[in-house]
Amino acid sequence: MTALALGAILALALISCKGGAADENRSPGESVYRSRCQTCHALPKPVKMSDADWPAFIHDHAERAKLSAEQIDQVLTYLISSN
Ligand code: HEC
Repeated sequence: MTALALGAILALALISCKGGAADENRSPGESVYRSRCQTCHALPKPVKMSDADWPAFIHDHAERAKLSAEQIDQVLTYLISSN
């Protein structure tokens, strides 16, 4: 009974997470990017750099934005899929 109830709550949480209102189409990388990469300057456009240039460039700014290794990966994935 308890396990069932827990399972139901978990399933609900997962569903509401996926169907979240404003963030519906936003990847984790884009969220990190939008929240952390415009504290010092306007949000740069992903098309500003090529797939080859972003990975080399991002580390300097990711360090400034104090991103974790996982967040860097997410941001990179977003940038490279949107340029
Ligand atoms: C602590 C401040 C700071 C944070 C946070 C920051 N930047 Fe920057 N960024 C700068 C400064 C200062 C410049 C101006 C040029 C330079 O110093 O490289 C800049 C310039 C840029 C440019 C333009 C470079 C060019 O040659 O045109 C891009 C693109 C960029 N940042 C991307 C990012 C991304 C992506 C993030 C998030 C991971 C980020 N920045 C976070 C400080 C920051």
